[in-house]
Amino acid sequence: MLDKKKIEETLSDYKDLKIATICSHSSLQIFHGARMEGIKTVGIVKKDRKKLYESFPLGKPNEFIEVDSYSDIPEDELIARNAVIIPHGSFVEYTGEKFDDLRVPIYGNRRSIGYERSRIKMFEWMKKAGIKKPKILKPEEIDGPALVKFPGAKGGRGYLIVNSHKEFKEKVGKKECMIQEFIIGVRAYPHFFLSPISEIGYETKHGRLELLGVDKRVESSADEIARAVSAGLKPPLSFTVIGNEPMVLRESLLYDYMKIGERVVDTSFDLFGGIIGPFCVETIITEDLKIYVFEISARIVAGTNVYSLHSPYSTYYYDEPMTTGRRIACELKDAKKLKRLKEIIY
Ligand SMILES: Nc1ncnc2c1ncn2[C@@H]1O[C@H](COP(=O)(O)OP(=O)(O)O)[C@@H](O)[C@H]1O
Ligand SMILES: [Mg+2]
Repeated sequence: MLDKKKIEETLSDYKDLKIATICSHSSLQIFHGARMEGIKTVGIVKKDRKKLYESFPLGKPNEFIEVDSYSDIPEDELIARNAVIIPHGSFVEYTGEKFDDLRVPIYGNRRSIGYERSRIKMFEWMKKAGIKKPKILKPEEIDGPALVKFPGAKGGRGYLIVNSHKEFKEKVGKKECMIQEFIIGVRAYPHFFLSPISEIGYETKHGRLELLGVDKRVESSADEIARAVSAGLKPPLSFTVIGNEPMVLRESLLYDYMKIGERVVDTSFDLFGGIIGPFCVETIITEDLKIYVFEISARIVAGTNVYSLHSPYSTYYYDEPMTTGRRIACELKDAKKLKRLKEIIY
């Protein structure tokens, strides 16, 4: 992990501040939000994707840097442009472990991504936070539907449901995986934002917590399976994410969700110096209103894309359009003004 001092040195040489990310995932929203705040943007793009991004006048970056592969981030070019990287799901996936040592300043705490990357660490975090989570099973404990998750299977691809130890041995064998009890309920993906400098939002020990929206992932085959079943088919349940839908929670659940958010934040400061900026706690709510957390995404999630101006929650914090993308740009602007960039960049 690159020393934070190095990043602070780089940052102190910055005369200007630009926002940069890979053209994918939630980049249109990030660039659009920066544009609303008057911050210039840099899009890292592969040749074949450039035409697409150029076609959105208000969502495209001010400038492109073309690359052959997203695993090689043009660090010197970004630093020369005084860029701060906004890490999104595709960014952390494409860069992998190289992410930790990038010499370019990154918005948020880069150490949080290590806790997202390792399912073991993530469950430690969740355990320490004292939030309800699915049981982790040993193969011989499988007795009823269990979800087998393989490492790095981002976007839900390749997950498997097994019902018994026998089925596990046949279908999985000795492959590295995590087995979770399968929770039945309604999924909800709240978009949190933690600011150590803002005075708006839910008060926590380490700053204010906002809930900027909630979405629901649309996954194939799981979310359209009723049609297949009605057609007389019985496809296996799978969870490849195809898109997202907006969602609003019954208001009484907000109390529980903000408590979960707060615990996740508190614990993150104990474990790795804190989660800063956007994150998502992926949940399933059972019929008796118990909330199970099965994953934490420690950066902006693609579900925030469902709100390109307002969400049913952002409206109650801000009297102008506010997306997670714009919120990030505001935060960078405010921190710069207050000379507190060091607190939100690593
Ligand atoms: N314990 C669980 N019980 C039921 N469904 C689950 C559970 N864990 C995950 N899922 C389903 O699988 C999907 C992908 O799981 P997740 O662990 O979030 O992987 P990814 O890395 O793809 O985000 C979730 O969006 C959810 O629909
Ligand atoms: Mg997930």
